[in-house]
Amino acid sequence: MRFALDRESGTPLYQQIEAYFRAGILSGSFLPEARLPASRQLARDLGVNRMTVETAYANLESDGLVYFKVGSGTYVLPPPVLALPVKDNAQALFPAWQQTLQLPLSFSDETLAAPAGADLIRFAVGSGDPGLFPLDAMRKILQTVMRRDGVSALGYGDLYGYAPLRATISHVLANQGIQARPENILITSGSQQAIALAAQLLLREGETVLVESPTYGGALDLFRKLRLRVVGVPVDGNGMQVDGLDALFEQVRPRLIYTMPNFHNPSGVCLSNQRRHELIALAGRHNIPILEDDYVGDLRYDGHAQPALKALDPGGQVIYVSTFSKMLMPGLRTGFLVAEGPVFENLAQGKRATDLAASNLIQRAVEGYVTVGRYQAHLRRSCQLYKSRRDAMLAALRRYLPRDVQFIASRGGLFLWLQLPDGLTAEQLLPIAREQGVDFASGPGFFPNRADGANFLRLNFAAFHREQINEGVRRLGQAIGQVRK
Ligand SMILES: Cc1ncc(COP(=O)(O)O)c(C=O)c1O
Repeated sequence: MRFALDRESGTPLYQQIEAYFRAGILSGSFLPEARLPASRQLARDLGVNRMTVETAYANLESDGLVYFKVGSGTYVLPPPVLALPVKDNAQALFPAWQQTLQLPLSFSDETLAAPAGADLIRFAVGSGDPGLFPLDAMRKILQTVMRRDGVSALGYGDLYGYAPLRATISHVLANQGIQARPENILITSGSQQAIALAAQLLLREGETVLVESPTYGGALDLFRKLRLRVVGVPVDGNGMQVDGLDALFEQVRPRLIYTMPNFHNPSGVCLSNQRRHELIALAGRHNIPILEDDYVGDLRYDGHAQPALKALDPGGQVIYVSTFSKMLMPGLRTGFLVAEGPVFENLAQGKRATDLAASNLIQRAVEGYVTVGRYQAHLRRSCQLYKSRRDAMLAALRRYLPRDVQFIASRGGLFLWLQLPDGLTAEQLLPIAREQGVDFASGPGFFPNRADGANFLRLNFAAFHREQINEGVRRLGQAIGQVRK
C-alpha cells in the first residue's frame, strides 16, 4: 500500500496513518469488513516502525472504527451513522474548475434499466430476455478460448478487431444481402460506440443531424452531449416520411442522417422498400452520409426482410452499424460498423484514440459462438419465443386497455409503441402505473422535441413471460382507469 506521509510535519507518523484510515472509513472508501493491511507489511511499505502502525490501529479500534480478529487481522466496522454526511460535505471541497461544470442533462436510462424485480414489471427495459443468454455455452467457449489461444487472447489484439470475427461477420452479412469485406468491418464496444464515432467524425458542435422523430433515446443523449442540432423527421407506419426531405435538406443542411430502417426503436415500424430507395437517392443527391442502425435486424417475426440501406448503397454512402447486444447479450459490449472509403480509416482511428480496441477475449468468445452455428439456432429460438410474447402483449392490450389507446403490431424487435388519447400523458400515468406495479419507457425521452412525446409510451414484450405480460398490461389498464377518474 502507498500513501503519502509528511515526515517534515510536526504531526507524528502514527497520527498521520490513523488519519488516513479514519478518513477512508468515514467516507466509505474502506467498506465494512474490509481487511486493513497487515501491520508488518504496511510498516515495510511506508518505511516506518511496526509499532507506529500498531499504535495507529489501536487508536482506530478504541474509537470503534475497526476490530481485531485474533490470528487474522484488523477489519473495518460500519462507520457511526453521524459520520456519513462527510461525503456530501466534500462537494464544497471540489476545486473551482469542477464547480464551474454544469450538471449534465438527465439521460434516458431505459437501455440500462435492470430486468424485472420481484414485483415491479419493468416494461421500460431495452433488451431481450436474460433467460435466453447462453450462459453455459459462453462459459465453455471462454474456457476453450483461454486454453486454445493462451496469452494471445489477453493482449490488446488487432486494433480493428479480431480478424476471424470480422470474417465471420462478413459471412453473416453476406447472407443478409450486405457484401462487406472483413477489411471494411470495425469491431466496436457496442454499437453505441459506433454511433458516437460516426457523429464525432462527421459533425462539429452546432451542426445538424437528422433523425426519425421519435428515435432511440441513447442516440439523442449522445447527439445532445456533442451539442449537435437535432432535427426530427416524422415517422408513420412505413417508417421515416421521406416526402418532404428534399426541402428539409435545403433548409437545415444536415451533415448526417441517423436512421433505424428495421423495427425502429421505439415505434417498431420498418421503412418501406420504396422509401429505402428514395432515401438512398435523396442522400446521394444532397451528399449526406447515412448512419444505418440495424440493432435488431434479425429479430423478425412476420413479413419478409427488406434490403438494408447498406445493401442499396452505390458505394461509400452508408455507414452501417449493428450489435450482438440485442440478438445475443448486451454485456458482451460487442458491436461493429461497416464502411468503405476514407471514412473507414478515420473511424478506426477514432476508435483507437478512444479506447484502443474492443475486448480481445470477448471477441474471441463471440466468434466461437457465432461460428459453430449456435448463433443461428439461438436466433431461431429467440424469434419463436419473442413472437409468442408479442402476440401475448397484443392480446393483453386489446383485452385490458381502453379502445382509444392506439398501437400498431410491430413485425419484429422488442417493443410495442402506444399512443394515449388526448388529455392523458405518460408523465401523469407513470407514477400511478408504478404504484400498480408496472412501468414503461415514457414518450418524451424518444423525441428531439420532448413535448411531442407527451402521450406516447414504449413497452418491452421480449423480456417477459406471457403471464407477466398479461399481468403487467392488466395493471397498466388499471392505472389508466385510475388516472381518468
Ligand atoms: C436502436 C439502438 N441502437 C443502438 C443501441 C446501443 O446498443 P449497444 O451499444 O449495446 O450495441 C441501442 C441500445 O439500446 C439501441 O436501442
